Amino acid sequence: MVEPRISPDALCALLGPAQPGTPAYRWLSERITLLVADGRVLPGARLPSERALSTASGMSRTTIVRAFSHLMDTGFLDARRGSGRVVRLPVHDVPRAREPIPTSGSHRTTDTPLDLTSAAPSAAPGVFEALRSALDALPSYTAGSGYVAGGLPVLRRAIADDYTRRGLATDPENVLVTSGALDAISLLARHLVRPGSRVVVETPGYPNVFAALRLAGARLVGVPVNSPEVDVPALLDAARTTGAVAILVTADFHNPTGRLLDESARTALVDGARRLGIRVVADETLAEIRLDQDLPMPSPVGGHGSGAMLVGSAAKTYWGGLRLGWIRASRRTVADLARARLSGSLADPVLEQLALATLLHDQPGIGDERRAHLRDARDTAVRFARERLPGWDVPVPPGGLSLWCRLPVPASSELALAAGRRGIALAPGSSFSATGQGLEHHVRIPFTLQPDDLAHALDGVAQAFDALGPAQ
Ligand SMILES: Cc1ncc(COP(=O)(O)O)c(C=O)c1O
Repeated sequence: MVEPRISPDALCALLGPAQPGTPAYRWLSERITLLVADGRVLPGARLPSERALSTASGMSRTTIVRAFSHLMDTGFLDARRGSGRVVRLPVHDVPRAREPIPTSGSHRTTDTPLDLTSAAPSAAPGVFEALRSALDALPSYTAGSGYVAGGLPVLRRAIADDYTRRGLATDPENVLVTSGALDAISLLARHLVRPGSRVVVETPGYPNVFAALRLAGARLVGVPVNSPEVDVPALLDAARTTGAVAILVTADFHNPTGRLLDESARTALVDGARRLGIRVVADETLAEIRLDQDLPMPSPVGGHGSGAMLVGSAAKTYWGGLRLGWIRASRRTVADLARARLSGSLADPVLEQLALATLLHDQPGIGDERRAHLRDARDTAVRFARERLPGWDVPVPPGGLSLWCRLPVPASSELALAAGRRGIALAPGSSFSATGQGLEHHVRIPFTLQPDDLAHALDGVAQAFDALGPAQ
């Protein structure tokens, strides 16, 4: 394959003017890193020679040699015989969304970065007590093997009752317990996807779910998240034209935008998918994170037709550390999935399952205290961003755990790099794209850190943004 060559003038135009106050070699290597990270220079492209770039840019050859050598050290450049310097994308060096990462709260040490790549809150009130009461109930289980495929009956019953509370009559046989929503989606992906199957997803979306689908062999068809009226026809259209096997949606407080799909959009989605003969998988990980108490909630996607499969999680309602989730589907599908799961995992921990059953029974839903805490955090983050970053567009999400902010310039990757230098891990917009590229106008700001850490992190992001050069 012949690699495309970037002319010295084209590279200079992409680089923009140098940033005063930063050593020239560092500016040049950071700028090229950014151009590669956000897809403006594609891996495989050949850079101009040092001499040609020096002539075109006015930078000394020593500066360019030093910058290129740094880029080779960090894995962004390859020197290939006969083809000059070829751009590479070392995936591990690009700021990416990694979730959930337990660095918030008391686990943070002074030398770990403030982590804004994860939108995972600390434990809800009552989690510790539920675990303690689970310990009291444990002796009646220890006489058995502890392997209960499909989930403890008491937990399957509690999950079923919780759906019934939300308006969707459910039996325990409709429920399969998993170790989190991501595990549930991975299992569903193995069930639904054959190598090369198309799956329609919303973009932006949750990156680990994209990865799980790809791992199962799916080819993702991304549809932009705009508004409920636009989303559903576009999702169905994409499924029809690509022959997709499934549509995966996060109808209730989409991550990262916080959007809530309304009642009529849900009906249109489930009806449309039934007509196409394909499955809808609804990721309800964030469904309980309704931040505005008076917001009327549409009925669960599964209530709009029998074909939808629902995925739930204990992570956001109660605590990610419980590592429990579930699938709600027809009895037959649940039985098939339970059998299929045995090839990857035999069962989930008894103690945590008992604790979750207690939580679902005694304190269903998010609870007033947790809602108030998360709503305050959201409002603080919105207020801060609007006051301190007036050029940003900062919509208020009705639910979920993050703000999806629009930047005045397409500089999300650059902002993430600059924030990283200030000790703040930030995922650029591209991390949430179904293709892993683009969305440079957006950045996700989770508001799940403890208040002091959140204030520091937001301040650092604002400083990083102020410090960006004018050339985006
Ligand atoms: C939309 C979405 N789906 C799935 C997950 C993974 O959830 P779990 O921790 O239960 O695996 C997350 C976690 O943030 C999420 O935001």
